[in-house]
Amino acid sequence: QSGESVRPSATPAAPVPPVASPQAALPGVPTIRWDEPPEGPVIVLLDQTRLPAEESELVCTDAPALVQAIRTLAVRGAPVLGIAGAYGVALAAARGFDVDEAADALAGARPTAVNLVYGARRAQEAHRAAVARGADGPEAAAAALAAARALHREDAEASARMAVHGLALLDELMPGGGHRVLTHCNTGALVSGGEGTAFAVALAAHREGRLRRLWVDETRPLLQGARLTAYEAARNDMPYTLLTDNAAGSLFASGEVDAVLIGADRIAADGSVANKVGSYPLAVLARYHHVPFIVVAPVTTVDMGTPDGSAIEVEQRAGHEVTEVTVPFVPVAGAEAGGGTAVAPLGTQAYNPAFDVTPPELVTAIVTEEGVVSPVTAGGLAELCARSAQV
Ligand code: MRU
Repeated sequence: QSGESVRPSATPAAPVPPVASPQAALPGVPTIRWDEPPEGPVIVLLDQTRLPAEESELVCTDAPALVQAIRTLAVRGAPVLGIAGAYGVALAAARGFDVDEAADALAGARPTAVNLVYGARRAQEAHRAAVARGADGPEAAAAALAAARALHREDAEASARMAVHGLALLDELMPGGGHRVLTHCNTGALVSGGEGTAFAVALAAHREGRLRRLWVDETRPLLQGARLTAYEAARNDMPYTLLTDNAAGSLFASGEVDAVLIGADRIAADGSVANKVGSYPLAVLARYHHVPFIVVAPVTTVDMGTPDGSAIEVEQRAGHEVTEVTVPFVPVAGAEAGGGTAVAPLGTQAYNPAFDVTPPELVTAIVTEEGVVSPVTAGGLAELCARSAQV
């Protein structure tokens, strides 16, 4: 490992490709968009609860509808939650609702992904500043919308830069190419203004002919890996294989994994990483088997206000997500599927944290759009955030 704690990039001169079509991986319906039909502005989501069976749109006409869409995971994944939060505040402003109330409701819709708070507060702040300048209602609403659009654009750019930095790191750690990468949950175009975080790195490797295999954890209980990552991998003609979460250990043991690539919902100031439950066991496995464990996330996921992993609030979700299968998701046509079949005795209590926290000493590197932090230390992260603030 490099002695430096923050590197601008393993290949500083590498040009960052333009984001010609941020949703290239998803031809059909964009993950999120703002629309202005004659009846008034709306936010249109690709309803992720219905994937991969169908690509259908969910139209939100107000912030409470968007809060509900966030809670039910119709839109999910840290970076796009930030974008959704910002558009949600812009929607409240454009429709003449109380902007501060909407911002509070959106920021609190789910507790772990800090990007949601960031996006909602950024649009709220833009609105507040416009009002303070003497702007009228429509002008202040336009300022909130401009902030949301800027965040959407910046996230697409960050995604492209993370892909460049992440692929350079993979090549550095594993010269010779032919990367076999294990990933967990879903981190592609469905969570981003661009092509995602960890998935964008794997996609870049694929495009360069250097991805030998993408191992996709199914990601119980809500199957973001099986339903969403496999869907994105198939769309991009990537060589992927789906596995149950508990098959990962034997895969490591047989030497089939060269690196783990995951995203993050919140990175504390000490480098602790909150991500989809099941990430921490992968980090333990990776350390035991001497495999790099790499976290890919935009700088907006780093929360210097959260000192360490114990201060991260981990969302606890309803027990029925564990005691039943396929609820509330739509079965793929033709497949044998349960549609909400109970798999545990009625009344069974479930432990269902949505996320877990991996301590910094198990993380080989954090890849951001501003560069790579490795080893992962509080000082390295602080330096990264300071640099990002200057840009
Ligand atoms: O509960 P979800 O589906 O919102 O969880 C999403 C994840 O844990 C992702 O891995 C994380 O948001 C990173 S996405 C870049």
